[in-house]
Amino acid sequence: MSQFRVTRTLPEDATGAALRADVLAGLTSTPKWLAPKWFYDARGSELFEEITALPEYYPTRAEREILADRAGSIAAATGARTLVELGSGSSEKTRILLDALTGLRAYVPVDVSESALTQAGEAIVAERPGLQVHALIADFTGGLTLPETPGPRLVAFLGGTIGNLLPDERAAFLAAVRALLSPGDALLLGTDLVKDEELLVRAYDDAAGVTAQFNKNVLSVINRELEADFAPAAFEHVALWNPEREWIEMRLRSRAAQTVKVQALDLAVDFADGEELRTEVSAKFRREGVRAELAAAGLELAHWWTDGERRFALSLSVAG
Ligand code: AVJ
Repeated sequence: MSQFRVTRTLPEDATGAALRADVLAGLTSTPKWLAPKWFYDARGSELFEEITALPEYYPTRAEREILADRAGSIAAATGARTLVELGSGSSEKTRILLDALTGLRAYVPVDVSESALTQAGEAIVAERPGLQVHALIADFTGGLTLPETPGPRLVAFLGGTIGNLLPDERAAFLAAVRALLSPGDALLLGTDLVKDEELLVRAYDDAAGVTAQFNKNVLSVINRELEADFAPAAFEHVALWNPEREWIEMRLRSRAAQTVKVQALDLAVDFADGEELRTEVSAKFRREGVRAELAAAGLELAHWWTDGERRFALSLSVAG
């Protein structure tokens, strides 16, 4: 018999409260910023799925290639009986892992989006009789409590999403993941790699303009959730490479001097002509940097796998 359970560890209104606090902090800062997690309402998730199919956006294909090549090695190295997937989203790449992990008993997808979890979880349960699926509605950047499932556990954080965290946040996140691991457990981490600037910028500023729509979608989220009156057309999509920090930044540049009202926060926000609002950081990595960040969290790099063009890496690390 297969099983499907959903556990909510976020209070019903946690998302709303966090959005209000974040938007207030970001729009009253200099320079202004918004956190990238707010891109992903239903429309934003759909736009991200479209991005993954764009010719310019290589990370998804590169990571899928590595997973397809290395799933057997991952299974052999970990012997995982539980797969925990952080930020599971639509879980399409997960199937490659689920197929390879022959001893798997439990799958624990963790996401803030209840709809994504329920859809993906039900589909997987239907396909895999005998697999226990225990979905967790949780913010994996906060403290996580995992359900009791058989070890060894493999915790997977794919897609390069760790790059959306700032260095301090990454350190805290990795330390929290480390705290979840028992001896014999492992972390599988996807990281996009530093490469030619033009290739990087094009991946975040595609010719069809899908990434521009995705970027502006965060304004629609704030309009709807916080009764704001952003005019998305009054902002221009900007993607640039920051060579010191080795990250891509997405910004929204105000096309004119304007004032935006956010009613739910009782806030009026002035934008100067040309003023930029940072909406995302997407850090790119090198092997040595990943090794050092893992080590600082008490994790030891055991395997480093890249795609044929060395655009993206999957690392497997164990509690050191
Ligand atoms: C889903 C966070 C991995 O940073 O590349 C895609 C999001 N932003 N295009 C990334 C994104 C712009 C993506 N991650």
